[in-house]
Amino acid sequence: MISSEHQRTFLERVQTRTARLGIIGLGYVGLPLAVVFAEAGFHVVGIDLDTRKVAALTHGESYIEDIPTARLAPLTHAGRLVATSDFAALRECDAVSICVPTPLRKTGDPDISFIIAATEQIAHYLHPGMLVVLESTTYPGTTTEVILPRLSAHEAALRVGEDFFLCFSPERVDPGRTDWTTVNTPKVMGGVTPQCLQAGLALYGAALQTVVPVSSTEAAEMTKLLENTFRAVNIGMANEMLLMCERLGLDAWEVIEAAATKPFGFMKFTPGPGLGGHCIPIDPLYLSWKLRTLNYRAQFIELASEINTAMPRYWARKVQDALNEVSKAIKGSHVLVLGVAYKKDISDMRESPALDIIHLLQQQGALVSYHDPYVPSFHYERIVMECVADLDAALTSADCVVVATDHSAYDWAAIGRQARLVVDTRRVVRKPALGG
Ligand SMILES: NC(=O)c1ccc[n+]([C@@H]2O[C@H](COP(=O)([O-])OP(=O)(O)OC[C@H]3O[C@@H](n4cnc5c(N)ncnc54)[C@H](O)[C@@H]3O)[C@@H](O)[C@H]2O)c1
Repeated sequence: MISSEHQRTFLERVQTRTARLGIIGLGYVGLPLAVVFAEAGFHVVGIDLDTRKVAALTHGESYIEDIPTARLAPLTHAGRLVATSDFAALRECDAVSICVPTPLRKTGDPDISFIIAATEQIAHYLHPGMLVVLESTTYPGTTTEVILPRLSAHEAALRVGEDFFLCFSPERVDPGRTDWTTVNTPKVMGGVTPQCLQAGLALYGAALQTVVPVSSTEAAEMTKLLENTFRAVNIGMANEMLLMCERLGLDAWEVIEAAATKPFGFMKFTPGPGLGGHCIPIDPLYLSWKLRTLNYRAQFIELASEINTAMPRYWARKVQDALNEVSKAIKGSHVLVLGVAYKKDISDMRESPALDIIHLLQQQGALVSYHDPYVPSFHYERIVMECVADLDAALTSADCVVVATDHSAYDWAAIGRQARLVVDTRRVVRKPALGG
């Protein structure tokens, strides 16, 4: 099925590990990918606009928890992985993967400006035999409607599928996870043409254990959105289960644990403080936006988003109610928030619901402090805070302790003994017991 000399050369260079790979965006997704390709024997050039990241990598220092410096340094010292802010490095690359952010605009619409900026840089250096792979999560159609026309407009003489190759392959990395990593998590790949797919499968198959082909870039884009919408909707349902159980005088966690004993047909999701991270709160909105352009309302996504975004307010009210029970006003009470990262055992605070809870409590006059073993200090909009130095003292002196993130480092039994009042969004201090 080899369609051209360019494709043959590309496949040969992959096979002999002489192919050079560029990775644009060296964050949570791009850096682990760069390391994995370098470890597989390829020469990797990481390109990032953030000069601090480039400087750190040039010194062999990692800033991503999943990539220890001890793993990175030998690759950078051997020149197998180099970092730069200069896109001219793409001139020498046989392939380039785009791993830039895809946030939302203030209006809630997709912001694909980072993808466009990266594509325009690639277009300058597009050359025969080059493979371009988009990894950033985005709405179905981005690869063919946004990237392909920009590449083709720049180099009209180069035909996709013959002279250059274009694929979409969604990233599934779950930061902090050690059992499923970049190498062993199956990777879905769609190509603009069968030849594009073949090139994508060859390159990624040389570094990753399993690459799963799908029929188009749109199918690959939609696969990622299905995965994250599945999570957002199920978390939304677990959160609504909490609200419904409360009305019925039931313990939602007990009910969920009991349902989870069913060995088939049920997957456990638990209530919590709300959605966090760069993916689950955002990605489904890329899909609902795209569907709106086609006059279709994505009802599950909208409902889940509504329920999940209301959770920080629910928990702030729980703090108020708990203080009220002991005849205290929220105004002037000392509230200690445990965990500000969006999920356990990492430092990432993007979209963390803990920030909304802190903001809501402060708005009501609470004197809020926080502790997080991974976050020494933070600055978020108008909130500037430093982690309390003495956790034990903070626990015993707080009028109320809010568990926002269930980091494994915490001793929940001890926290339960020390705290006067606990509002536990993760249900870790007093775990639900079946039959109790
Ligand atoms: N973080 C995750 O867990 C995760 C998981 C799966 C998918 N994704 C998706 O992967 C993509 C990247 O996410 P991330 O978490 O790695 O983001 P990140 O913010 O950690 O990293 C993105 C990097 O891209 C750089 N960058 C931005 N614009 C650039 C440009 N024009 N040229 C070069 N560099 C540029 C930034 O400086 C930053 O270092 C997003 O689409 C995200 O939705 C993320």
